[in-house]
Amino acid sequence: MTPKEFLRDYWQKQPLLVRNALPGFSGLLTCNELMKLSCYEDAQARLVIQSDGKWRLKHGPFSSHDLAKLPKKQWTLLVQDVNHFLPSARDLLSKFRFIPHPRLDDLMVSYAPKGGGIGPHFDSYDVFLLQGTGSRRWQISAQLDNQLIADAPLRILKNFQPEQEWVLQAGDMLYLPPNYAHNGIAEDNCMTYSIGFRAPSHHELITQFLVYLQDKIEMEESLSLTDKERYSDPDLQLQPHPSKIGASMQSQVSSILKKIKWNREDIENFLGVYLSEPKSHIFFEQPLKPLTLRLFLQQIKKTGVQLSLKSKILSGNNKFFVNGEVYKVSPHTYKILIKLADNYEFLSHSYIDKETEKILYQWYVNGYIQSKE
Ligand code: SIN
Ligand code: CO
Repeated sequence: MTPKEFLRDYWQKQPLLVRNALPGFSGLLTCNELMKLSCYEDAQARLVIQSDGKWRLKHGPFSSHDLAKLPKKQWTLLVQDVNHFLPSARDLLSKFRFIPHPRLDDLMVSYAPKGGGIGPHFDSYDVFLLQGTGSRRWQISAQLDNQLIADAPLRILKNFQPEQEWVLQAGDMLYLPPNYAHNGIAEDNCMTYSIGFRAPSHHELITQFLVYLQDKIEMEESLSLTDKERYSDPDLQLQPHPSKIGASMQSQVSSILKKIKWNREDIENFLGVYLSEPKSHIFFEQPLKPLTLRLFLQQIKKTGVQLSLKSKILSGNNKFFVNGEVYKVSPHTYKILIKLADNYEFLSHSYIDKETEKILYQWYVNGYIQSKE
C-alpha cells in the first residue's frame, strides 16, 4: 500500500492491521534499557499495575528499587518521548514522514510481562502500534459507549465490547484512528512501540491562540494599541441607574475590541510556535565549551549537521520555528535549512552563506543542533 492510499482509505477513518510492516524489526532497546530510561529525571515514565482486579498508576522517574519489587505478571512500564534519547528511535519516526511533522507527537515504548496491559481505553490521537519483541493480543472496537470506570487512576472503559482481535508479532503494526476503543494484552514478555500523532482540541487551539495574540499585542509597537488612546465619553448623559453598564459604553468597548485583528501569517506563526514548543521538562544541552564560529563551520563542512534529539523544527513561508522560536530567513537560507527541517540533518554544505552560517551557529550554541559524528 502506498502512503497516498493509506491516507485516502485509512488515516483518521478506520483501523488497519499491517502484518510484517517492518520486516526484521525486533525493537530498538531491551527491557533493561527501557527501565534505565524510566529512571532518568527528564523521561516521562509510568507504571501501570493490576492486582486483585484493581488498577494502580505510578509516575516516574523510578528508582531501581521501584523496578526490582514489581510483581511477576500484569504490569506495564511505559516511557514517552523515547525519540529524545535514542537516535534509532528518531530514525523510526522518520519512516512516518508521510504524515506532516506538525502532527507528530512522540514515540512511546512499553514493556509488559505476560498478562500486562493498560486496560481497554481509547486515545484522542492517531497511533501506529508497532510490535517489537514478544507478542501482544490487540482487541479493538468501534463502540460509541465511552463510559469510563469511576475511581480508576487511568482511563479504562467500563463496557468494552471487542469486535476484532489479532496477535501481533515483531514487525506487525496496527493503525488506530482517534477514539477507537482498544485493549492490548501481553501474551509473553512484550515490547510495543507507539508512534503517536497529536490532534489538539478546539478548546486548546483557541485558548493557546488567545495567549499568542496577547503576547503579540504586548509586543506591538503600533500606536493604535498603546495607552495613548483611552475610553472617552465627552457626551456623557445622565442615567437613571448609576450602577448600569450603559449601551453607549458597551458600543464603544465593542468597537475598541474590533481592533484585535489577525491574519494568515499570525495563524502560521501561532501554529509554528505552539507546535514546536518543547514540553516544560525539556532542557537543551548547550555545548560546555562551544567551538568558535570558524571552527564550527569547518567541522560541519566535514560532517554535516543534525538536529539534536530533543529539538523540534517546523517550517513556514521563508521561516522556521525551532523549539518555540521564530526565525525569518531569506529564500536562499530557506532552501538550505528546509533540508534540516524535513530530514533532521543535512550533509551537503559547501554553499552555506553568511546568513545561514549565523543561524546555524546560534542553533548550535543553544544546543538545538550539532555536527554529525
Ligand atoms: C501499550 O503499549 O501498552 C499501550 C499502548 C496504547 O494502548 O496506546
Ligand atoms: Co492506547
